Amino acid sequence: MKTVESTLLDRRSIRRYEYDPVTDEQMHFIHEAIRNTPTSYNGQQFSVIEIDNPALKEQLYALTNQKQIKTCSRFLLFCADFHKISIAAEDKNVSMPAFTHTLDGIIVGTVDASLAMMSALVAAESLGLGTCCIGYARTAAPDAIAELLHLPPKVYAVCGLAIGVPREMPDLKPKQPTELMIHHNGYTADDALRPLLTDYDNTVTYYNAHRAGTKSTNDWVSHIVGYYDEAMSYTMLEALRHRDFMPDR
Ligand SMILES: Cc1cc2nc3c(=O)[nH]c(=O)nc-3n(C[C@H](O)[C@H](O)[C@H](O)COP(=O)(O)O)c2cc1C
Repeated sequence: MKTVESTLLDRRSIRRYEYDPVTDEQMHFIHEAIRNTPTSYNGQQFSVIEIDNPALKEQLYALTNQKQIKTCSRFLLFCADFHKISIAAEDKNVSMPAFTHTLDGIIVGTVDASLAMMSALVAAESLGLGTCCIGYARTAAPDAIAELLHLPPKVYAVCGLAIGVPREMPDLKPKQPTELMIHHNGYTADDALRPLLTDYDNTVTYYNAHRAGTKSTNDWVSHIVGYYDEAMSYTMLEALRHRDFMPDR
C-alpha cells in the first residue's frame, strides 16, 4: 500500500487502463472506505451504483462519450440518495418533510456523494490503482442514465469514478499555489490575487505546451471558461425536478 503522502501528492487522473481486473479484495477495501465516509447528520444521503457489466458500460459510454467508463475495470456512480430514508420513514410512519425540494437538500446529497467518491478515490489510489472522476455521468444524459440504472425518485447521479490498473502515468498537472487556495484569516484582496492568477495561467499554458504526450495551446482561464460555456446548455434543474428534487415551477 502507498504512503498517505504518495497517495495524495502523486495522484493524477488516469484515463487509460490495463485489461487486468480490479480484484474483489481491492473492491472490498474501497467499499469499506466508502461506508465510513463522514456524512451530514450521519444520514448517509448517498448510494453507489457499481458497474462492471460490459454491455452496461458500453451503454453508458454511448450516453456520455467518456471512454474511461468502457475501458475501466469498475465504474462507480455516486448518487445523492433520499430514497432510502424516505422508505424507512414510511415504514415507521414517520412523516418525511419535503427536504429534497430545498436547495440545502440538494447540497447535502451532493456533498455526501462527493465525499464518498473521494473516500473511494483515495482508497483505490492507495492500492496503486488509477482513477478518473467522470462528471459527464451527471450532465451528459441525466434522464437516460437514471432510467438505465433504475434510479428511484429522490436519487440523482452526482459523479462517476472510473477505477482500473493504470496504463499511463501522465505528468502531474500544476495546481494553484498555496497563496491562491488557502486564504489566511479571511479572503485575500483582489490586488494580491491578480498577479498570482496571471502567473498560474502562464504556468498552465507552459505545462500544456510542454507536457509529455498530447500537447496543446490551451491556457487555463479560457479553457476553464470554455467549459462553463458548454455547461450553460445543461439541463440539470429539469433533470433534478424529474427526480423529485426542487419544487415544480
Ligand atoms: C467532479 C469532477 C468531474 C470530472 N469529470 C471528468 C470527466 O467527465 N471526464 C474526464 O476525463 N475527467 C474528468 N475529471 C477529471 C479532471 O479533469 C481532473 O481532475 C483535472 O483535470 C485535474 O487533473 P488531475 O486529476 O490529473 O490532477 C473530473 C474531475 C472532477 C473532480
